[in-house]
Amino acid sequence: MVANRLPVDRVTNPDGTQGFRRSPGGLVTALEPIMAASDGAWVGWHGGIDEELESFDKDDIHLVPVPLNEDDLELYYEGFSNSTLWPLYHDVIVPPAYHRTWWDRYKKINQRFAEAVLRIAAPNATVWVHDYQLQLVPRLLRLARPDLKIGFFLHIPFPAASLFSQLPWRRQILEGLAGADLVGFQRETDATNFLRCLRRFTDYQTKGHEATPRPEHDLQNVCRADAHPISIDYEQIKRLSRDPQIIARAAQIRHELGNPKTIMLGVDRLDYTKGIRHRLKTYGELLNDKQLKAGEVCLIQVASPSRENVETYMELRDQVELMVGQITGQFDTLSHTTLRYLHHSYPLKEMIALYLAADVLLVTALRDGMNLVAKEYVAAHQDGRGVLVLSEFTGAADQLTQSVLVNPHDIDGMKAKIMQAVNMPEAEQAKRMKRMNHHLEEYDVARWSHRFLTELAQINTNSIPVV
Ligand code: G6P
Repeated sequence: MVANRLPVDRVTNPDGTQGFRRSPGGLVTALEPIMAASDGAWVGWHGGIDEELESFDKDDIHLVPVPLNEDDLELYYEGFSNSTLWPLYHDVIVPPAYHRTWWDRYKKINQRFAEAVLRIAAPNATVWVHDYQLQLVPRLLRLARPDLKIGFFLHIPFPAASLFSQLPWRRQILEGLAGADLVGFQRETDATNFLRCLRRFTDYQTKGHEATPRPEHDLQNVCRADAHPISIDYEQIKRLSRDPQIIARAAQIRHELGNPKTIMLGVDRLDYTKGIRHRLKTYGELLNDKQLKAGEVCLIQVASPSRENVETYMELRDQVELMVGQITGQFDTLSHTTLRYLHHSYPLKEMIALYLAADVLLVTALRDGMNLVAKEYVAAHQDGRGVLVLSEFTGAADQLTQSVLVNPHDIDGMKAKIMQAVNMPEAEQAKRMKRMNHHLEEYDVARWSHRFLTELAQINTNSIPVV
C-alpha cells in the first residue's frame, strides 16, 4: 500500500513520550487482514516535519515512513496536491493555481515514494497506490520493475477533459497513472473521463475499458480503468450504533440541546467542495421564512480542521464563521441555539452518537468523490429513523438512491427538499433506510478491496498491446 499518509495518528503516551495510534477508518480496517496475510507494508508520510523515522509495526501492519520537510509540505502537499490538483479535480470550484516550482517538487516527492516502495517490494509483489498526491508513482514503478503488479485508486473525482486540459503537465500525469495495470475510480464517469483524456492528450489508444500505448511508447503495458466505488466498514458502524453507551450519549446530546423537535447535522472537513456555505444559506432562509421555527430546530455543523495553511481554506473558514455568527446572532435566544458550529474532529464513537441524535443529515457537497459520511449515517440508523439529504454531485448519490437528492446550487430546491426531509412520515423514513442499509450491507469496504484486488490479480501483467 502506498498513500500520502500512513494510517496512524500521533499520540502522547501517559509517560509523556510520543507514539502512534492507528487512525480509525474503513480503508485500513479492510486492508489489515489482507496485508497481514500477505506480509504487506504500508508506505506513507507519518505526519512529522523533517523527521526521519525507521520502519515500525503498528498492530498487524508494517509501516514504512516517508519523510517530508517544510518545503515539501508547502510545494508538494499544500501547493501542487491541494492548490492545483484538488480544485482542478473538483470542477474548479475555486481556481487551480499552476506553478512550475510546485510541479517540480511533486515529481520529486513521487520519486521519493516510488523509491521507498522499490526498496521493499518482493519480486512479483502487488503494489496498490492511492490518490491524487501520488499519480506519478505507477509509471515510476513500472519503469524500474516490470515484474510488479500495480494498482491505483483515485479517491476523488476525475474531471472532464475540458477542465483537465488546463493542466500544463496533463500528459505526464496521465502517463503516470497509465503505468498501472488497473486504475480504479469512484464512478463510471470518472473512468470514462480518464480514458477520454488518455486518448486526447497522450499516445494511448483505448478500447472499452482498456488503454494501450502505441508501439513506439516506452511502456507497453495495458492499463485498465474501471469504477470501484469505495464503502465503509458496515459491521463496525452497525455494532457501534447498537452500543448502549453510544445510544445513551445520543440521548444526552439531544437533551443538552434542549430536546428540539428536529436536529439536523452536517459533518465535513472544512473544505470548499463540501457546500457548507450553500447549506448555511439555505438554513438561514428557512429560519427567516419561519418554515423552520427557531425554538424547534437545531443544526449541528461539525467542520473538522483541514489544510489550514492553504489560503482558500483560510478564506472559507472566515466566510463560514461569518455566516454562523449571522445565523446565531439573528435567531438564537438566551435559552436556545439554532446552530452549533464545532471546528473540531471527533472520535468515531462520538460521531455515531451524533448520527443517532440527528433526524436529518445534510450532505450538500458541490463535488465529492464518494462521501463516506452519508454511508456512515445510514449504517448507524439500524433503528430505521432519520433522513439523508444528499447532493447529486457525490459518488454516494449513485448508490444511496433512497436519499432525498438535492442540487446544492438550487437554494429554493434545497429548501423544499429539506422541508420534505423534516416532515417525512416515520414509515417512509424506515422504508428508505432499510433499502439503503440493504445495499451497504452487501457492498462494504471489504468487498470493495476484494473486488479491486481480484480484478488486478486477473490482469495479465506485461500483456502485449493490441495495435
Ligand atoms: C480526502 C483525500 C485523501 C486525504 C483526505 C484528508 O479524503 O481523498 O487523500 O487524505 O481528504 O486530507 P489531508 O490533506 O488532511 O490528507
